Amino acid sequence: MKVLGIETSCDECAAAVVDNGVILSSVVATQIPFHRSYQGVVPEIASRMHTEWIYGVVQEALSRAGLDPAGVEGVAATAHPGLLGSLLVGLHFAKAFAWARNLPLIAVDHLLAHLYASRLVPYNQAEVSAEVPAYPFLGLLVSGGHSVICRADNFDALTVLGTTIDDAAGEAFDKVAKYYGFGYPGGAAINKLARNGDPEAFKFPMPNLYKTDKSGRDHRYDVSYSGLKTAVVNQLEQFRVKPRSGGSAGPPGTEEAADIAASFQKTAVEILLRALLRAVEDMGLRTVVAGGGVAANSCLRARLAEHAGLRAIFPPLELCGDNGAMVAGLGEQYLLRGDRSPLNVSASARVKAFKRTYP
Ligand code: KG4
Ligand code: ZN
Repeated sequence: MKVLGIETSCDECAAAVVDNGVILSSVVATQIPFHRSYQGVVPEIASRMHTEWIYGVVQEALSRAGLDPAGVEGVAATAHPGLLGSLLVGLHFAKAFAWARNLPLIAVDHLLAHLYASRLVPYNQAEVSAEVPAYPFLGLLVSGGHSVICRADNFDALTVLGTTIDDAAGEAFDKVAKYYGFGYPGGAAINKLARNGDPEAFKFPMPNLYKTDKSGRDHRYDVSYSGLKTAVVNQLEQFRVKPRSGGSAGPPGTEEAADIAASFQKTAVEILLRALLRAVEDMGLRTVVAGGGVAANSCLRARLAEHAGLRAIFPPLELCGDNGAMVAGLGEQYLLRGDRSPLNVSASARVKAFKRTYP
C-alpha cells in the first residue's frame, strides 16, 4: 500500500512514501540553520517555515517515488507529541490531501513512529532485512524531548517501563553544548567533539534513583539528567580526575572541550545503559530496538553492541532523527489493519500524563 507520511512535529519538514515497508522516497528539509542563532528551536519560526515548505516537500517526495497524487493509497501524519503549531501544519496538510483524493487518513504518534523506524527497508534494498526484530522486544526511545525504556508487543502496543524524571537525554546534550558553545544541534556536535577527547578526564556523578519514592513509585528503569547537566555546567572542576589539558584556566580550549564532551557523553550513555540493562535482565527480553535522534550516538551504539547475549538494533542514521518514512511505515500498518482517523482528528503537544502504557 503506497502511503504518504508527513512529519512536522519539530524542526524537520519531512515527507516520504513507503510501500509494503519499503521506502520509495524520503525527503527531510531541516530548519536547523534558521534556529541556530537562537541555539534552540523557536516554535513560531518552525511552524511558519513548515507552512512555506510542506507543499514543496510533499511534491518532492512524490516525485522521487515516481508517483503523482493519484498513485497515493493512504496518508499518515504525526499528530503528537511535539510543537503544537508545527504538528498542525503537517496534520492539516495530510487531512486536505486525504479529503481531496478521498483517501484513508491515519494520525500517528511520534514515539511509536521512532520505534518503527528500524523495521523499514531502505529503498535501495529489495527484500525485508533479516534484522527486523520479532515482537516483543525492549524499546529505547531517546530524543530531544523523550527518554523512554519500554516493552513493545506490537507496532501500537507499548508499555512504558521507565522514563526520565527531568530532562530528556537529547535535551541534556543540547543544554551542555549550548552552555559551552560546542555547536548546534548539541547531540551531533558533542558526539563529534568527543571523538578526540578523554572520557576519563572527568568522573561525573550517576543519579541514584533506584529506590521507592513517597508515592510508592519504584524508579528502577527511570533516568535523570538534570544532576549530570548541573555537574558539567556548574561544578566542572569538582569532577576533574585528570589535570586540565589544552593550557591555562579560562574558557575551555579545543582539548579541554573534547575532554568535557567525551566525559559527559560517556556518563550520559551509562545512565541509559544502567536502566536499560536492568530491564533486559528483569524482562528476559534480549532484543533492544533503539529509535530517536540520540540513537545516532556512536558511543551508545558501541556500548550496546559490546553486550554479549544482547541483540541491539538501531535504525540507519538517516532514520534516527525525525523523518517522514517512519510515519509512513507505521501509518501503513494501521491502514492495512483497517484503522482510520476522522478528518477532525486533532493534534496534541504532549502525552497527557506519563502513563505506564502508551499511547
Ligand atoms: O528524534 P529527534 O530528531 O527529535 C525529537 O523528537 O526530539 O531528536 C533530536 C535530538 C536532539 O536533542 C539532538 O541533540 C539529539 O537528538 N542527537 C544526538 C545525536 N544526534 C542527534 N544526541 C547524541 N548523539 C548524536 N549523534
Ligand atoms: Zn523525534
